[in-house]
Amino acid sequence: MSQNSARTPRINDLANRIDVGFREALLAAMGESAATTDPSIKVAANPKFGDFQANFAMGLAKSLATTLGKNPREVAQLVVDHLPQSLRDLCEPMEIAGPGFVNIRLKPEFIAVALTEMDIPSLGVSDAQGTHSVAVDLCGVNVAKQMHVGHLRATIIGDTISRLYERLGWKVFRQNHLGDWGLPIAMTLAALRRAKTDINRVTLDDLNTAYRNAQMQGRDDEAGLAAARATHVGPHRIAELEAQHDGASAALSDAHDTLRRLQSGDTAIVADWQKLIDVTMREVYETAQILRVDLKPEHNRGESFFRDRLVSTVDAFVSANLAVRDDGALVVRFADRERPLLIQKSDGTSLYATTDLAAARYRIQDLGAELVVYCVDARQRDHFRDVFDAVRLIGWTKRSDDSQASLVHVPFGAVLGADKRPLKTRSGENFTLKALLDEAVARGRREVRSRAAVPDAPTSGMSGAELDAIGEAVGIAAIKYADLSCDVGRDYVFDLDRMVSFEGDTGPYAQYAHARISGILAKAGANGATSPIIIGAPEERALAFNLLRYPSAIEDAAVQLAPNRIAAFIYELANTFNAFYQSCPVLRGVDDATRCSRLRLCDLTRRVLADALSIMAISAPARM
Ligand code: ARG
Repeated sequence: MSQNSARTPRINDLANRIDVGFREALLAAMGESAATTDPSIKVAANPKFGDFQANFAMGLAKSLATTLGKNPREVAQLVVDHLPQSLRDLCEPMEIAGPGFVNIRLKPEFIAVALTEMDIPSLGVSDAQGTHSVAVDLCGVNVAKQMHVGHLRATIIGDTISRLYERLGWKVFRQNHLGDWGLPIAMTLAALRRAKTDINRVTLDDLNTAYRNAQMQGRDDEAGLAAARATHVGPHRIAELEAQHDGASAALSDAHDTLRRLQSGDTAIVADWQKLIDVTMREVYETAQILRVDLKPEHNRGESFFRDRLVSTVDAFVSANLAVRDDGALVVRFADRERPLLIQKSDGTSLYATTDLAAARYRIQDLGAELVVYCVDARQRDHFRDVFDAVRLIGWTKRSDDSQASLVHVPFGAVLGADKRPLKTRSGENFTLKALLDEAVARGRREVRSRAAVPDAPTSGMSGAELDAIGEAVGIAAIKYADLSCDVGRDYVFDLDRMVSFEGDTGPYAQYAHARISGILAKAGANGATSPIIIGAPEERALAFNLLRYPSAIEDAAVQLAPNRIAAFIYELANTFNAFYQSCPVLRGVDDATRCSRLRLCDLTRRVLADALSIMAISAPARM
């Protein structure tokens, strides 16, 4: 898979170095018969067994039983005897344990050297220097609709995945697939024009109301249609229902008329339509800024962007004999499922799926992306399955160098209220994202102000404005971290009390660890910059191991498209640091060399924490 190209061996990857040494030894000890044997190097579950374990001997002894006639412990010993000197120099003498595990304990000097190598601006994270590229479908708001919690997820998950790949030096194309074309927006536009609303003065709230009212007018048929779509009754029945639906009201025929004029480029309608987009996007960008998400007009590749490519998209499927007529409509059929993909309605208009086919082609063929990631609600799983299969069938995943691009849907779960149902206001409305963020910021500010009131708090004496800025950072971090730290596909309960807490696996806890280290360094007035690193205490060792895992944690998170892995890394690092700081004095009561080494460990931890938080675009204040 092309995603694996995110993974390259790293100098500071201890497991990788050990793996390489064991492969060499396997070959030297057993010859070609062991050439493909995986030494199976794992981090030891218990420090009692060392730092790593190699678990190859049992399998190997079994598979080579007849030729070899050795038991697993003997096989393990044979391989250990052939380890290259370069690896032996780095490890304490190896122990064969139990049925044939090899316990590997690194010499502290080795850990120190690896850490020193990592202590560079890149922090050991590999840099593809733009030789790989990914398109990330994020945000995807619908014009004239207020952003709600679902858009929070599509936006911050997409932004984090983008930043992950940017951090790895990939070229990243952020694609905001706006819902800015088609009947829903025409309905809103028509309703506004009928009501003679001054489009120059509308707010997003007005648009939202107009949108909802317009939708209500065909509600009965909408319900029938939604049910039909949900049960996959097939395009025939859907087309029928749509025909009834279409005739439902004068409002709808007005909307159709507006849509026709919009599509044919009627200047007045197009100008009004553009204003609806502007009103919507102004708020989207404001929200993006509060969330620290990199989302700008240049990332807009909405449905309307593809309007001139729809005909050729459908034609391509027809010419390839992949689209067939079904009662006037055009569908793509798949060998392994009954549900076809509808790409053109019987009245000749195209659909959401048609646009997605055009967009996928654009991302791979025009942008050259080798990986296309869709951060979209899990409820669209079937849609993407069908779209991706159709794109593969027609061969649009093939890139100019003949490699195959990958299309991946990152289906995220819902945000739930305390009642475990999708989060709603008391009156049963969707929470607007704005209201949610406002509340989080207010909570963050309260929290920070009450902490500052404690004598000797690091923030005591700061101005109200400074405290509010920190409070905002805390509130936003709380929401983002809570979202990004859970398994993407899972639903989670929105619980602001838990999210904003300074204890536990939360954003503020991670930020606080960073601020605490900043405070230590400020007190010391030094950061140990070039001092030799000394690894002595077990807590130092544990901290070092955690730091060394950073590059692979980033790469794993990217390959797995799993922002929660970065959060898990941050949480563990913060915990390991706190344990280290508790048992290893830094500022007082230690000799100079130890103090300098520990300051350097502190500083490296601080930088790794800030870097990891920056991938989630969570700020790391120096004082909290
Ligand atoms: N606007 C769509 C919706 O609200 C989301 C767009 C997701 N991206 C895509 N390429 N279809 O459902």
